[in-house]
Amino acid sequence: MVEKVTRSIVIVGSTGSIGQQALEVVRAHPAELRVVGLAAGKRLDVLARQVHDFKPSYVNAPSLTAAQEWHGAITTTLENLCELPEADLVLIATVGSTGLAPTLTAIRARKLVALANKEVLVMAGQWVMAEAQRVGVPILPVDSEHSAVWQCFAGDCRLGGDLACSSIERIILTASGGAFRDRPIEELAAVSREEALAHPNWVMGPKVTIDSATLMNKGFEVIEAHWLFGLPYEKIDVLLHRESIVHALVEFYDGSLRAALGPPDMRIPVQHALTYPERFPASWPRLKLTEIGKLSFSPLNRRRYPCFNLALDAAKTGGTAPAVLSAADDVAVRLFLEGKIGFADIPNVVDRALQAHRLIAQPTLDDVLDADRRTREDLEASLDRGTRRA
Ligand SMILES: NC(=O)c1ccc[n+]([C@@H]2O[C@H](COP(=O)([O-])OP(=O)(O)OC[C@H]3O[C@@H](n4cnc5c(N)ncnc54)[C@H](OP(=O)(O)O)[C@@H]3O)[C@@H](O)[C@H]2O)c1
Repeated sequence: MVEKVTRSIVIVGSTGSIGQQALEVVRAHPAELRVVGLAAGKRLDVLARQVHDFKPSYVNAPSLTAAQEWHGAITTTLENLCELPEADLVLIATVGSTGLAPTLTAIRARKLVALANKEVLVMAGQWVMAEAQRVGVPILPVDSEHSAVWQCFAGDCRLGGDLACSSIERIILTASGGAFRDRPIEELAAVSREEALAHPNWVMGPKVTIDSATLMNKGFEVIEAHWLFGLPYEKIDVLLHRESIVHALVEFYDGSLRAALGPPDMRIPVQHALTYPERFPASWPRLKLTEIGKLSFSPLNRRRYPCFNLALDAAKTGGTAPAVLSAADDVAVRLFLEGKIGFADIPNVVDRALQAHRLIAQPTLDDVLDADRRTREDLEASLDRGTRRA
């Protein structure tokens, strides 16, 4: 009998959608998976319950003072949490730029890093992947499409600091099309927050759900794939696939295509990353292909998704542009969720930030962090000047 891995895990962003699903996976495998550290943002009530249930040694949240006992765990800094000697793997499940520092800390401490927080690679993929390669640790994809690509590679490509593989002709990421895929384009200006948060296939955190409705999410995923797999943008395609059953395909240079299928359930890619290189059994509902009947694929209507176009343009421009894209989108989505701008204003806010930015083509990591900070400050300042509608 094959012996299963036993793994001690830190979860950064444990109270969010991915963090809570990761804890469900841990709960299902108590003998093999152990939580040694949890970090969250504001939801201390949820964090307290998690500490009670999973008994990590250490815990972190911005409002908790370090080195105190809190519900039986010791409070510590986020940095300490990501380099705990007893941790094997750090899951980064925060959103936006918050995940960058913990990701770099975990890599430098030679932990396995399971990365859900895609904005980290959008803004700073070059530095994250270079650091992972220098230290010799893999970055394990959690996003369903990237996990699918990774699983399609099996046997053909090595998982290392990057997954680059010369026999790949292209990869295809699928997109559900989000909440408004069938809405007439002229109606998009008037859609509500609640309508935008109703994703047709996935239940996720608010930021990624809105990013799915604008398809900024798919643009981010193209950038994420570029860095994770070391592929040029010409080799990364996107297809509309309404059913969210085929998560990605890989086409090899002999014309063979391999696809990874599964129900739209993030616990599957989360478990795959947490237990890599093993596969653990799971009892969640199975895909019933006969019930689904048929799978559809079609090209994206790019006119419907200006955010997707902005993301691809920023990706190809490179330098500080993707960091500005991500920071501006973060602010724009927050403003939309707060009811301060309309849905159709999101691409306008992002576009304005990109137009106003003075590009640094060969930035340092500090330049990227500076671009992120300045973009947020400039957008906030323009709001303070009373220009809340884009
Ligand atoms: N959800 C999905 O199904 C899904 C699928 C694919 C990819 N992703 C990606 O995974 C990432 C997480 O998404 P999500 O949907 O899980 O987001 P989410 O539900 O909004 O959760 C975000 C998490 O980050 C925490 N957080 C915020 N500020 C923090 C800080 N300063 N320090 C530590 N933790 C902090 C939040 O804590 P509080 O809640 O306590 O404030 C929460 O636990 C995103 O990049 C998303 O694109 C998500």
